[in-house]
Amino acid sequence: MASAEQSAEQFTGRARLPGFAAPRRYDLRLTPDLAACAFAGEVAVGLAIAAPTRFLVLNAAELDVAAGGVSYAPQGSDQVLQAAEVTNVPEDEILIICFNEVLPLGEGTLKIAFNGTLNDKMHGFYRSVYELNGEKKNMAVTQFEPADARRCFPCWDEPAFKAVFKITLEVPSETVALSNMPVIEEKVNGPTKIVHFQESPIMSTYLVAVIVGIFDYVEDFTTDGTRVRVYTQVSKSAQGKFALEVALKTLVLFKEYFAVPYPLPKMDMIAIPDFASGAMENYGLVTYRETALLFDEKHSAAANKQRVAVVVAHELAHQWFGNLVTMEWWTHLWLNEGFATWVSYLAADQFFPEWNVWTQFLEESTTGFKLDALAGSHPIEVDINHVDEIDEIFDAISYRKGASVIRMLQSYLGAEVFQKSLAAYIKRFAYSNAKTEDLWAALEEGSGEPVRTLMHSWTKQQGYPVVSVKLKDGKLQLEQTQFLSSGSTGVGQWVVPITLCCCSYSRQEKFLFHGKQEDFDLSGLMECKKKDDFWIKLNVNQTSFYRVSYDDELASRLRYAIETNKLSAADRYGVLDDAYALCMAGKQKLLSLLHLIAAFKDETEYTVLAHTSLNIAEMVSVAAPEELGNLKKFLIDFLEPFAQKLGWDAKSGEGHLNALLRGTLLTALAELGHEATINEAVRRFNVFLQDRETPLLPPDVRKAAYVALMQTVNKSNKTGYESLLQIYRESDLSQEKVRVLGSLASCPDPVVVREALDFILSPEVRNQDALFLLRGVCSGAYEVAWQWLKENWDYILGAYSGTLLTYFVNITVSPLATDEKGDDAEEFFKSRTKASIARTVKQSIERVRINAQWVKSIKGEADLGNVLKALAHKH
Ligand code: BES
Ligand code: ZN
Repeated sequence: MASAEQSAEQFTGRARLPGFAAPRRYDLRLTPDLAACAFAGEVAVGLAIAAPTRFLVLNAAELDVAAGGVSYAPQGSDQVLQAAEVTNVPEDEILIICFNEVLPLGEGTLKIAFNGTLNDKMHGFYRSVYELNGEKKNMAVTQFEPADARRCFPCWDEPAFKAVFKITLEVPSETVALSNMPVIEEKVNGPTKIVHFQESPIMSTYLVAVIVGIFDYVEDFTTDGTRVRVYTQVSKSAQGKFALEVALKTLVLFKEYFAVPYPLPKMDMIAIPDFASGAMENYGLVTYRETALLFDEKHSAAANKQRVAVVVAHELAHQWFGNLVTMEWWTHLWLNEGFATWVSYLAADQFFPEWNVWTQFLEESTTGFKLDALAGSHPIEVDINHVDEIDEIFDAISYRKGASVIRMLQSYLGAEVFQKSLAAYIKRFAYSNAKTEDLWAALEEGSGEPVRTLMHSWTKQQGYPVVSVKLKDGKLQLEQTQFLSSGSTGVGQWVVPITLCCCSYSRQEKFLFHGKQEDFDLSGLMECKKKDDFWIKLNVNQTSFYRVSYDDELASRLRYAIETNKLSAADRYGVLDDAYALCMAGKQKLLSLLHLIAAFKDETEYTVLAHTSLNIAEMVSVAAPEELGNLKKFLIDFLEPFAQKLGWDAKSGEGHLNALLRGTLLTALAELGHEATINEAVRRFNVFLQDRETPLLPPDVRKAAYVALMQTVNKSNKTGYESLLQIYRESDLSQEKVRVLGSLASCPDPVVVREALDFILSPEVRNQDALFLLRGVCSGAYEVAWQWLKENWDYILGAYSGTLLTYFVNITVSPLATDEKGDDAEEFFKSRTKASIARTVKQSIERVRINAQWVKSIKGEADLGNVLKALAHKH
């Protein structure tokens, strides 16, 4: 019998577990010791063995498993086989269990006893620290996605091995114990209690969750009776009310949208003080960072509110898309994340139409565009050959490009067909796994359109096209080439869903552009009489994922259309964003970009203005210092009138978007060192410092005030910095702490920036929050931050892992803008790279090269200074 000849070595060095044994059911019992930061566990796995074997191979990492504690009992016999040998292979995070005899085909139960540590790395089974009555306490929390269930119990830790989970916890009597399913029985026995949870439907290991701590909650029921709770730290449950409301509505909406009821009897959502990502969609027990779940009526900003709504909607979407129907392998992660991102906007738009979230969505696309314009990008469907490669895939390609191509497809197929086909897909793959291909098949069936051909070009190759358009003899000439930020031309080709409108939105054309070049006859569309009003816009309302490069004539027509307010907000955004990207890639003169920006002087839409301001700020931050003065002045002159109109105080009854805009504009002006803004900020801040309830500094403008204050700080006068630390220390609201962290390093004095960076390493900053301080490093101090990273690398490597570690690389390396720094970073990481950061290192260094090239190119634009002056004056 061939399989009896198996040897342990043949199971090592593989990307995936062998399939000859598959779990059907886990009976899992965990006993955490919160004070000692340890846990003990026992698992009984009901297995189906499909091929005779002496070996069982499953995942485990950082667990103590004694060979004596492992046995297998074939079903229907009294025999219990003890494991002869248990080999732990740390590189592969697997256990190879060897028996003396061949295990019979069919079912049986594998029992394993084990011990582990409640770690402080925010993955696996970990501890998070909170305060209760002035005393520090540990809670026990799980975070298993993508592949850390194996750090809590031995298991088949891949999404396709779905099984039933029956969980039991032995915990201190005074604690609240939560898991995916409701409690069915609780037996208190003095200081400890045993909590039994109901058995789950079949699900993947990465969605299992367990939490033990002391919490309060608010509770309500959806219209169809699902119990929803939001758990918070003791005495903060009122901050859970907004998320609770959103969750109630969202569950009902998605039940209708997916045409399948919410599959579990309850939904718990909980804020965790130490949390690596934003939130995690564990089945029936969603975990969040505090900033992504809690909303405080007095001290949270409009931006915080929107974040809570979007994150809740995103995680609840996963309950269907991800949890009920699960990706077959991590190559299809984008299905989970891209889809949940897209549909969270759908929900937010329903509940808060006045937020114009579909216009805000364009910011997601832009972030996707930026990463995907690098040679070091990757296809949406990406090969995963080792578990260490998975974390880096939770990136702008999976989330934002993923969401953008879904939006593109939805708008091509139409909302109704799209939704019906999706519902069919969910029904077909419920309690099972699916690949990208399966979704396309369902959409192709439902629509009769060539979905596979169309979408393969977007998900199987990296990058995206720029469609160049020229107007010649009444014909529109289209040509597609791959867009790269470096300015080189890639070889990619796409099936591009082209939409275009001419002179008005009432007449639109729509077709698939397959080839490299195509002429399009405009005669049927030309309805504008006066030549002055003529304009053509491709990618109408920016629903597709490509850029457009217009010839000079068409570009100047569009500029005029913007000046005369003919374009939708999304199209204004698109024209600007494409021009900006083309300029950064050296395909368009900076001057013509600045001319275009000047056309936005009457802009009213939050997203468009915020994006314009972001783009210029980005240029200012990479530009060579000799150009900086002029560019800065240009930006200040551009932004000031808008900020003046809004003022510092909210007008009564004003909308959400005005609140967002005020914060964005004032923060930008503060960063630019705009004196009037800084003076006003300092005045208001001083009142606030004495009275945290003062109406002079509402939450929407606090970040701006903090950044402004930091502009007045230097190494010999650090009062402002110290006041901010005081606010940080005195606040118990995470969103407030994050606002402070985001401002501390925005100081022009490098000595202070270094001090702020060192604060990251102090015990006062939770590891989850380091990135906020890092992101706030002002443009003058990028090299300081890079130097600091190099000096502290060994410590950082020991303290951080996963996506948090990649942030350190990305945030500090990407903004550098000289070839010399690019070489320096390459040299530094040569000996330090490893699988879990390799992609990020490569992408960040590529960005440095691109920045350097851009800086060189604008130096070539000799008369820039004068033109800037002229433009600013005109404005
Ligand atoms: N599944 C992710 C959480 C996750 C991220 C797990 C990275 C493992 C690694 C979750 O659904 C998610 O996408 N969270 C987002 C928030 C969302 C609103 C975009 C996050 O954490 O940022
Ligand atoms: Zn997600």
